[in-house]
Amino acid sequence: MITCRSNSELRTALEALSSAGSMKESSTKTKVGFIPTMGSLHEGHLSLISQAVADSSITVASIFVNPTQFGPGEDFDAYPRNQRRDLRLLQGTGVDIAFLPSVQDIYPAACSTPILAAPSLSSCLCGDTRPGSHFDGVATVVDRLFRIVAPSTAWFGEKDWQQLQVIREMASTLHPALEIKSGLTVREPDGLAMSSRNAYLTPTQRFQARAVPVAMQAVRQLTPTLGISAALEAGRSVLLDAGLACEYLEVRSAETLTSYPHGASATPQSLDGLRLFVAARVGDVRLIDNAALTYAHLTETAPAAGSSQSALAA
Ligand code: PAF
Repeated sequence: MITCRSNSELRTALEALSSAGSMKESSTKTKVGFIPTMGSLHEGHLSLISQAVADSSITVASIFVNPTQFGPGEDFDAYPRNQRRDLRLLQGTGVDIAFLPSVQDIYPAACSTPILAAPSLSSCLCGDTRPGSHFDGVATVVDRLFRIVAPSTAWFGEKDWQQLQVIREMASTLHPALEIKSGLTVREPDGLAMSSRNAYLTPTQRFQARAVPVAMQAVRQLTPTLGISAALEAGRSVLLDAGLACEYLEVRSAETLTSYPHGASATPQSLDGLRLFVAARVGDVRLIDNAALTYAHLTETAPAAGSSQSALAA
């Protein structure tokens, strides 16, 4: 694995790997797979990376804690950073290049125009509850990274479903040749979605955090009998009873993120294409999650032994 700490080091490494590859296989075009991350890697990242490695001839993973996607009073300074551990983890994955750019590489003074995320996708859910223009910051950094790395395929986790839709939309207009792929949410054995922010949880908070997947499962199980609104009320009670502050627990269209038609009947067909979204705080720690709201998933059982993929994975 080559570690690149600037755009120019990245360019040199990509050129060297591409020409080495094309000497070996003269007929195949280099396929660059890219996994952007903010570091503090966990199994969710590693699962995305292994899919990208299997799918690409050259794989690049970036680590950059992006200041522009943190709002005032959020955890930019405290965000967990451990480059040595992250690089050690990446070594074992088959990634060819670890890209650790500087702020100057991503945001040179001469290039200050931000990308505005599509308002229909970015103004609800986390766009409404996080301070600042979180998704403009995400769209801007991902666009810059795409221009620097020039990948064929880029990989994102479904745990950040709203981010995934914002990026898909941005890429469809600004990077039409680029393929965006997603990986299922990876979960702890008790169903909690893996997240770098789980590291903030005290043991008591970690226990309380279990209420997030429990509330989601309650909504999914109760929807067929109670309907969506009453099932959501029951899910909010699960969060409240566990001492969590619910920022949102909502059902929306998976692709457009528009609200579901209120009063709609909860038939299997009508739930198709709907997704359940949650954000809740345990103390100061903000947890988000999402899952499909279909009958099919309600019959799923616990993950196979040794697997961290849970029943809630969409
Ligand atoms: O999901 C993340 O880790 C970040 O939002 C991303 C996509 C790397 C942009 O900074």
